[in-house]
Amino acid sequence: MPANLMTKSQMKKLAEQASGIGQPGGDARVKEITNRLLFRLMQVIDECDVSMEEFWAGVGFIAQTAKNNEFGLLVPGVALEHFLDLRLDEADKKAGIKGGTLRTIEGPLYVAGAPLSKGEARMDDGTDPGEPFVIEGRVQGEDGNIIAGAIVDIWHANSKGGYSFIDGEQAPYNLRRRIETDEKGGYLARSIVPNGYGCPPESCTRMAMNALGRHAERPAHVHFFISAPGYRKLTTQFNFTGDKYLYSDFAFGTREELVVTLERVTDSAAIRNAGFNRPFAKATFDVTLTKERAGAPKTEVAREHVMAA
Ligand code: DHB
Ligand code: FE
Repeated sequence: MPANLMTKSQMKKLAEQASGIGQPGGDARVKEITNRLLFRLMQVIDECDVSMEEFWAGVGFIAQTAKNNEFGLLVPGVALEHFLDLRLDEADKKAGIKGGTLRTIEGPLYVAGAPLSKGEARMDDGTDPGEPFVIEGRVQGEDGNIIAGAIVDIWHANSKGGYSFIDGEQAPYNLRRRIETDEKGGYLARSIVPNGYGCPPESCTRMAMNALGRHAERPAHVHFFISAPGYRKLTTQFNFTGDKYLYSDFAFGTREELVVTLERVTDSAAIRNAGFNRPFAKATFDVTLTKERAGAPKTEVAREHVMAA
C-alpha cells in the first residue's frame, strides 16, 4: 500500500537541492545522476513506506557489502552486469555491428597478469582430481579471416567451484592463463572441468538471494577476454549443456549461443595424443571478433583488477 506522505514536488525539490542542481560548480554529470538516483530513492521510500529501521538495515547491508569487497558479486546477482551487456548489445546493433560472438558478464573474479604462452597452455597445476579437460578453438574476424596473435585470456573455477587467488587454497594463477593464437588463429588449453560456483555461505550476496527467495549458484562456466590489434575486445564465457543451473544462473550470464556440449573422449590413442592418461572432456569454442571502427561502442572497460603476487 503506497504511503504517499510526500508530494512529488517536495521530493523533486529536495533531491535537486541535495545534488547541487542550479548551483554553480561541481561535476555536471555527477549532479545529474545523483539527482535522478536520489529522487527515485525518495519515491521508493515513500511508496513502500520504508521504516527508519528498514532504511538503516539497508545502509548496514551496503556497508557490510563494501567491507567484504563484495559489490562485484552483488552487481551480477541483481542482473545489473547483464543489463549493461544488453545495453551494449543494443548500442552495437544501432552502430550496425553484428556477427561477433556474443558477450556476457566478466564477473568479479578476474585476476590480471596470468602467464602467457603461444598456441597452447596447461592451466591446472596437477593437484585437482577433476576430469581432464581440453578447450580448443579458433579466433576469427567477421569475414571468417583467421586472427593469429590474438590474446585469449581464460579463467575458470576448479572442480569444487573455487577460483585461485579468491579461495586462498590454490596456487597463484592456477586455472588462469593467457594464450596467444597460433598462425592458424588456434588456441588450446589443457585443464580440468570446472564446477559451478556458489556464493560464499556468509556473503552479503547470498544473504540477499535468500531474502529474495533465489538461489546463489552459477552453472559451470569458463571465462574469456579475447583481444587482438584492430579488433574490439570481447568479454564472454561458455557454459555446458545439461548443467543443473544452466537456465537459472543467479548472475544472468547464460546465453543460448554460448552453451557448449562437452565431447567425452575415451579412445586410448586420442587420450595419449592429448597428453592425458585417462578419458577427458573436450569443448570447442570458436570466437569471432568484430573490427574496431569509428563510432563503435567501447568494449574495453576500465575496471579495477587485482593482480596475484
Ligand atoms: C559471480 C561469480 C562468478 O564466478 C562469476 O563468473 C560471476 C559472478 C558472483 O559471485 O557474483
Ligand atoms: Fe566465474
